[in-house]
Amino acid sequence: MTGPILAHLQSRAMEFGPLTDDAAEPERFWRHWKLARDEQEVAWLFFDMQDASVNVLSQEAISELGEVIEYLESQMPKGLVIRSAKASGFCAGANIEEFQGLSDEEEIVSKLQEAHTIADRLAALACPTVALIHGSCLGGGLEIALCCDYRLALPDAKLGLPEIRLGLHPGLGGTSRLTHLIDPLEAMTLMLTGKSLDARRARKKGLIDAVIEERHVVNAVVAAVQGKLKRHESGLKDRILATGPARQFEARQMRAKSADKAPPEHYPAPEALIKLWEEHGGDAEQMRRAEIRSFARLLTGDTAQNLIRVFFLSEKLKKLARSAERKIGQVHVIGAGAMGGDIAGWCAFQGLRVTLHDPQTETIADAVRRAAELCDRKHRSVAETRDVLDRLVPDPDNLGVAKADLVIEAVPEKLDIKHQVYQEIEPRMQQDALLATNTSSIPLKELASVLKKPGRFIGLHFFNPVAKMQLVEVVEHARTTKSTREQANAFVGQISRYPAPVKSAPGFLVNRVLMPYLLEAILLIDEGIAAETIDRAAENFGMPMGPVELADHVGLDICLDVAEMLAERLDQPLPELPDWFRQQVEGGDLGRKSGKGFYTWKEGEPQKSQDVDDPGEELPDRLLLPMLNTCMTCLREGIIGDQELLDGAVIFGTGFAPFRGGPLQHAKSQGYGKIVERLETFAEKHGERFKPDPGWAEER
Ligand code: NAI
Repeated sequence: MTGPILAHLQSRAMEFGPLTDDAAEPERFWRHWKLARDEQEVAWLFFDMQDASVNVLSQEAISELGEVIEYLESQMPKGLVIRSAKASGFCAGANIEEFQGLSDEEEIVSKLQEAHTIADRLAALACPTVALIHGSCLGGGLEIALCCDYRLALPDAKLGLPEIRLGLHPGLGGTSRLTHLIDPLEAMTLMLTGKSLDARRARKKGLIDAVIEERHVVNAVVAAVQGKLKRHESGLKDRILATGPARQFEARQMRAKSADKAPPEHYPAPEALIKLWEEHGGDAEQMRRAEIRSFARLLTGDTAQNLIRVFFLSEKLKKLARSAERKIGQVHVIGAGAMGGDIAGWCAFQGLRVTLHDPQTETIADAVRRAAELCDRKHRSVAETRDVLDRLVPDPDNLGVAKADLVIEAVPEKLDIKHQVYQEIEPRMQQDALLATNTSSIPLKELASVLKKPGRFIGLHFFNPVAKMQLVEVVEHARTTKSTREQANAFVGQISRYPAPVKSAPGFLVNRVLMPYLLEAILLIDEGIAAETIDRAAENFGMPMGPVELADHVGLDICLDVAEMLAERLDQPLPELPDWFRQQVEGGDLGRKSGKGFYTWKEGEPQKSQDVDDPGEELPDRLLLPMLNTCMTCLREGIIGDQELLDGAVIFGTGFAPFRGGPLQHAKSQGYGKIVERLETFAEKHGERFKPDPGWAEER
């Protein structure tokens, strides 16, 4: 092995120096690929995207790969090894930016055909080929690896085909190559769920031929090139499933399972993938050809385009979390109740050191127990669970205040209690520590009035359940400093959540837009419409849960509190709640937590009638229009920075049908004019609360 290549292999830094000196063969360079030969005549092809820390399979990178293969075909080596020159991994997948806004199916088909020709030529290369994989090997990256005869992985490798999350399926021959390499049912599950596998599990399933340490790379490559490495062979199941009827049987099961999670009328990709396999799974080449058309059709559809948009919205939110230099190391949480206890548990789960204070020691103990349950639900090992619990320190004496970089207050929603807590802890806090409140309704200005240093005070509004909800609203008041805001955003990123920077206005963003939707559902019940029918209308639209069930989940007492707070503080007309609803709350029928609300709850599940009326055309609009209208109000009032942030926050904070791209994106696709017309009709029929916000006209 010649100097520079060996040096390269031995260093895990992967920073690539020019391959010019003493390689045995003249090397070739492309913008994103570098080729060298060793003295055994094995070609080493390094994937090294120019000006990027992560490899993505852009159109340019694929077309250059075509040139590399053409060159190799003319000067055939004894073997070819493809590996990445980036520390981040082999390849993170396709360049999704190139997928945005595509609408010409024929153009996509023709580009894909070119890319397939290149992949097919790689697969047909007349020498043994090896993909040497470390780090992320996802989507198109894995599809390239699947073209190789062998796949060797370093222990840190992570492999997967996550296209389904973008409303797509693999498009570079992966559907066919994977189902013919490993157990086809396992392959389909991998693609239908979009989950990734670590090296060990990928080896078990046959996706990887060997897991090796970096120091054994050269020997393993030599063994592969000499044909001495055992390759994974397709098994009996593959042969059985080569027959159409066997695939039809399995496809029916897959359909039922995936329709349950993602209805095909909203998410067409799972059905397209299942159909592809069902119809063409017996013929690898035909399946690859059919994959091209199917992929192009999906990519030009609204669902994929909207899910691609959601991906970029999440990137935008994540980017906000990258602004601060200083990381939070230690968190102190005050109030170990429903929210504080779970916030503390989540922070410990995410690797932070946490002290948790509450005057009630049994409440702290309960929070620790919930943290252990969380580890269990997330399949953490005994040792990992112990580490999480070691990091979560019960603090009945409230001593952690003095050591924390961030103090989060989650005591009851009463101004005087919160003030008392602040006055007691502020003198004991570190000079540069942040103080955050989880309040959902008290204006931050009022809370900050007793503080000596209001600049370091901010809202971190978590949602319930903390471990499930991906969004945290980061709430500013007039005196919050830039550094506090940046550190708070960064902290939210540190605990794997998306920060949504919002102004301290009643209900902030998420509760404000959610409430008109929940209240309208209560009015509909008052009009005699069955809860199940109302929920069905929202679910048909694509909401993960109907508003009646959601109100029961949140707690009807909390809904009432928030509704009253909004009605008091906003001059926006909200629906008048019926008396029976207040009486129901006073009587203790609070929803899921009390076992009875609009539904009766058993073992955490609402008992719904299966006999549901067709919701009709008006019902979805009755529910959704007040929500869309409030989104426009929030945008106009500057509660959140821009339309993209708003759409992202509402999707990640409420579960708003992701395939619609966000509430305002959905409104745009309908046409703002049409939304305004509908609102006006409803305002006449049902009242002022439907009056269109002036923002619709301004934004048009
Ligand atoms: P909770 O009543 O479950 O917990 C409050 C805890 O604070 C109790 O364990 C109590 O013992 C403790 N506590 C009372 N006085 C204290 C003091 N002086 N020092 C330390 N601890 C004290 O209340 P929950 O639901 O956890 O709410 C806490 C905060 O989170 C509130 O501001 C609420 O508005 C907010 N919030 C609640 C949500 C929910 O769904 N429950 C959602 C988002 C925010």
